[in-house]
Amino acid sequence: MIRSVITGTGSALPAKCVTNAELAERVDTSDDWIVERTGIRQRYIADEHEFTSTLATKAARAALEAAGIDASEIGLIVLATATPDHTFPATATQVQAALGCGGGIAFDVQAVCSGFLYALATADSMLRTSMAQKALVIGAETFSRILDWEDRTTCVLFGDGAGAVVLEAQDVAGDGPGILASRLHAEGTHKDMLYVDGGPSTTGTVGHLRMKGREVFRHAVVNLADVLKEVLADTDLDAGDIDWVVPHQANARILDATARKLDLPAEKVVVTVDRHANTSAASVPLALDTAVRDGRIKAGDLVMFEAMGGGFTWGASLARM
Ligand code: UT7
Repeated sequence: MIRSVITGTGSALPAKCVTNAELAERVDTSDDWIVERTGIRQRYIADEHEFTSTLATKAARAALEAAGIDASEIGLIVLATATPDHTFPATATQVQAALGCGGGIAFDVQAVCSGFLYALATADSMLRTSMAQKALVIGAETFSRILDWEDRTTCVLFGDGAGAVVLEAQDVAGDGPGILASRLHAEGTHKDMLYVDGGPSTTGTVGHLRMKGREVFRHAVVNLADVLKEVLADTDLDAGDIDWVVPHQANARILDATARKLDLPAEKVVVTVDRHANTSAASVPLALDTAVRDGRIKAGDLVMFEAMGGGFTWGASLARM
């Protein structure tokens, strides 16, 4: 059967790292509060010359190198971001130009923190219907540009970064590698709990992120546990079969609570929120690349990806590496 197989991963972070203690000099917060409530210890912040496309291109190059293929072989780029370089054209087209692989398909997907899951499922469908053979799926963000740096309830939570995977259509056996199942959801009635108070069609400004954190937290734990169960049911597998969970990195307490709901041991959950904070659409591929490069995730492992974000949007995918 034709499946979309992850053949390479890559990631990129800005050079500048900002600790909780440094943030505490700007807003009324403390390292203790941030660590206890979120697990975050530091985040990376893009400088004025680093854009979403800059980080995305670096992550894409690393993924191409890991997959051992040339950019010219890529026929599809799906880039998830809520912080594009420009309102248009799509940041994916700028990455395509930087990589020098024009002529194929390139577009952005906007599902905020669930963006990578939406992009992965979209690219998977397109590969399995032969619209392309090899794809780059990228999550890249510069959330620092849409934060209200006076608002301690949000500005301490987010960071910048990018992650990418190369996805290749391959004819594999039933127990072979590839994306086994994906489920995506959206519930637009919750917009006011997590949104940006600007945009080209409303205020004409970029705006700032606004969040009712406690409400988002409550929905996240329930929605994530439900969507993970749906994907397991689709594949006739149980939580005990999963080797690794690579979740969206919003809050260490959400990761713990979701794992507990599924009876998954905490050791199977890849956690990078302490180092990267919440990088929105970049967080899942950044965490995946971290665990692949440090040798935890290996060929043959069953890996669950999951995320929940603004919209609300949420989703999960199960893949054999
Ligand atoms: O990626 C998209 C999805 N996003 C998420 O999943 C985020 C989900 N939500 C969360 O992670 C948590 O709700 C937060 C980390 C955002 C907040 O944690 P919390 O335990 O829900 O705290 P809270 O919002 O209930 O605030 C508790 C107290 C408040 O003070 P009072 O009203 O009790 O006096 C806040 O004003 O903590 C205060 N507070 C802070 N104190 C020090 C809020 N932010 C800070 C801060 N430093 N940075």
